[in-house]
Amino acid sequence: MLEKKIAGYSDEISVAPGERIRFMVSCEPGVDRYRADIVRLISGDRQPDGPGYRDELLPTSVSGEYPARTQETYCGSYAVVPDAPAFRALGDLSLQATIFPTLPAVRRACLISKMDVDAGRGFALWTDPSDGLVLQLGDGAGGLSEHALGQPFVSREWYLVSATYNSANGEVLLRQQLLDSYARDTSSGEARHASDGAAAVDCDAPLLIAAASREEARGKPVGEMIFNGRIERPVVASCVLEPSEIEALRSGPVPVDLRTDICAAWDFGQAFETDEIIDISPNRANGELINLPIRAVRGSNWTGDELSYRHAPDQYAAIHFLDDSLYDCEWDADFELEVPADTPSGLYAARLSSGDQEDHITFVVRPPRELSERNDRADRATASLALLIPTASYMAYGNSRGSIEFGNELLANHLAVIGPDERYLNRHPEYGNSMYDHHNDGTGVCYSSRLRPLINIRPTHPWLWQLSADMHLVEWLEAQGIPFDVITDEDMHHDGVSLLERYSCVMTCSHPEYYSTQMWDAVHAFTQRGGRLMYMGGNGFYWRVADRADKPGAMEMRRTEDGSRSWASEPGEYYMAFTGEYGGLWWRAGRTPQSLVGNGFIAQGFDHSSYFRRTDDSHDPRVAFIFEGVENEIIGDFGLIGGGAAGLELDSASRAYGTPPHALTVATSEQHTDAYIRVNEDIGHMLLSIGGQDDPQVHADVVFFETPRGGAVFSTGSIGWSSALFHNDHDNNVSRITRNVLDRFLDLTPLA
Ligand SMILES: [Fe+2]
Repeated sequence: MLEKKIAGYSDEISVAPGERIRFMVSCEPGVDRYRADIVRLISGDRQPDGPGYRDELLPTSVSGEYPARTQETYCGSYAVVPDAPAFRALGDLSLQATIFPTLPAVRRACLISKMDVDAGRGFALWTDPSDGLVLQLGDGAGGLSEHALGQPFVSREWYLVSATYNSANGEVLLRQQLLDSYARDTSSGEARHASDGAAAVDCDAPLLIAAASREEARGKPVGEMIFNGRIERPVVASCVLEPSEIEALRSGPVPVDLRTDICAAWDFGQAFETDEIIDISPNRANGELINLPIRAVRGSNWTGDELSYRHAPDQYAAIHFLDDSLYDCEWDADFELEVPADTPSGLYAARLSSGDQEDHITFVVRPPRELSERNDRADRATASLALLIPTASYMAYGNSRGSIEFGNELLANHLAVIGPDERYLNRHPEYGNSMYDHHNDGTGVCYSSRLRPLINIRPTHPWLWQLSADMHLVEWLEAQGIPFDVITDEDMHHDGVSLLERYSCVMTCSHPEYYSTQMWDAVHAFTQRGGRLMYMGGNGFYWRVADRADKPGAMEMRRTEDGSRSWASEPGEYYMAFTGEYGGLWWRAGRTPQSLVGNGFIAQGFDHSSYFRRTDDSHDPRVAFIFEGVENEIIGDFGLIGGGAAGLELDSASRAYGTPPHALTVATSEQHTDAYIRVNEDIGHMLLSIGGQDDPQVHADVVFFETPRGGAVFSTGSIGWSSALFHNDHDNNVSRITRNVLDRFLDLTPLA
C-alpha cells in the first residue's frame, strides 16, 4: 500500500454482546467499493521477525461489499448562538470583546459574525493581518461595506476591541487598545469612517463567535475563518456605546442603564464544565460551543493570586478558540453491528479492505454486563483473567504527528520512518491531533476524542506503540491457550472496581499512562481487596485525565508543572475544565505509581532496548514461583522492540516515591544507551550525566509485592517486556516468568 485511502471509526470502543456499534468510513478518490468484515484480532506485528498479522472471522451480517464515499470533517472551534428577537431590532450597532490573538498575522479571522452574505445583510467583526480590526456591514443589496482600523495586532497580547455603527449619520468607529502598555506600541488606535448609505445590519442568520459561516452541515453552521486565540466577554448592542460604557462592559454585570440596549453579553466565566456560553443580558441569548475550544483558561484580568478557575471564575472568563480542534467527525454510519449474543469477549476490528487498501477499526467486546448473582468470583466473568485495554492512553496518543516533526529524531536517536499512515495523517489535518501535539497556534493539545479515525491506533501500525505493541501480549495469551476477557479503561472508568472484582487477575497492556480518578480508584481498590494485578508495561499511571458525561468519547488532560512532556500548560491553567480536578502528574496529586504498582517512570529512550539481570531479592522464597524453570541470570536479552525486554519507557522501584517496604525487586535492567535519559521530574539541577551509560538511575525494575487479603502485584517496569514474549516460539525466560506469575495469580490460594 503506497498511499492510505481508507479510514474509519466507531461510535463505541467497548460493547457487550447484544449491544450495537456503528462504523463510519471515509475513502479517498480511487477507492470505489470496499469490503467489511468483523474479525477477532489475534496478532499484528508484521515486521520480518514478528508473528505477522492474524485474525479470525466472526460471521456477522456486516460482512459484505459497501460503496465508498468521502465524508467531510469540519474542524475548528467556535460558538453558535441561534438567531433571537434581541438581535432583530438593530439600527445602531456596537460590537466589542477583549481578545488575545495567537495567529493574527496568518490570515483574516472572524471574532463575531451574524451575516447573510447572499442577501448582503448583517455584520461581522474581523482581525486582519495588515489592517487589524475590520468591521463588515451588509448594504442590503447583496454587498458589504468594509471598514478597517489599519494597524495590525501583535500576537499573544490582550486587546479591548470595539466597533460602533451610528445609523443616523452612517459613522463607523473602530478601536483596538492594548491592555498592557508598551513603549513604541503601534498596534493600538482608532479609526473613524463615514459609511456610504444605510447599512442593513439585521438578518436572520445565527450569530457566531470566533468564526464566520456560509453554509450549514449536520444541522449547524459550519465555522470558517476561525479565530485562533482567546476571546473574553463579547458584547452585541443596539446602540452606539461610549468608551466608558465599553470599558464598563468588559467585566462585571451589565450596567442597569444599558440593559435595554444590550442584545447579548456573554460571560465565559460560567458553566465551565459544559458546552454552553451564558448571556448575562436580560435576553438570555445563550449559545453552544462546537469542537471543544479550551475553557478554564486565564482571562485578561488574571492576577496570579488564584490558580483554580473555581476560586476566581471572573479571572478565567476567556475561551481559547482554535481552528484545528475537533470533537466528533459526525460522519454518517456505513454499517452497524449488533454483537451476537454468544460472541466471546475479545479484541475485535471492523476489517476494511479494497485491493491493497486496508483499515482496522478496533473495538472491544466486553463480557456481558449482567452476570450471575452467585457470589463466586470465578463464576462472575467469562474468564478468570481480564486484559485491560488502555483506551485512555490510546486516545492520548491517537493521531500523534510527532514522527513528522522536527526534533523527533533527536528524541528517538534514529531516523524518522514516514509511511502511508503518516502521509495520510499529513493530508488530513482535520482529523485532529494527539495530546502530544500542538495546535496551529502553538497551544498544547489538552483534549482528545475517539470519535474520529485514530490512524496510529491500529493492530498493524508499524510504530510498535500502544495497540500495535499490545498485540504482542494478545498474541502470547492466544498462544498460551489461556482464556481471557477483554475490558477497557472506559468500562473501568464507569463500572469501577466492581468490573475488576469479577476477575482473579487483571493484566494491563504495555503503556497504561493516562488515568482518570475513577480508573485509579478502581485499580487501587482491586489491589487492596485481594485482586492480583500484572502491570505489563512502563510509564503507567502517570497523567491524570478527566471525562465529561455529556461528551462521550472525549478526554481532557493538562500537562502541568512537572513531568516529561511535549508541551506545558500555561501557569494558572492546571485545573481541568471537565471536572475542576487538578491535572498533571498523579504524583503531584499525592498518588505515585510506585505506591500503586511498586515502580514508576524513571527513564526513556527509543533506540536499543536492553536486558534485565536477576537480583539477590529474586532468590527470596516468596518469589521462587516466578523463577521456576528459569536458569539464566540475564532475562530478556531479545525482543521485537529494540532487541530487548528492557526498553522504551522504564519504571524503577523507589521507597522515596512510595514503593511498598516489603516489595521485592527481582530483576534490574542495565547497559542502557545514552539515548536513555532520566526523566526531568526526578532531576533538580541539570546534571552532566543523566544518560544510560553513566547514570545508575537509568534502569527498569521488575517488582513483586503482596497486597492485603491474599492479593499481589507484579510489575515488569518496561514497555518493551511484552515484545520479548514471542522470541523463540515463546520458549524464552520472559515468557516463562510471565506464565509463572500468571499461573500463580490465577490460583486463588492467598499469596500472603
Ligand atoms: Fe508515554
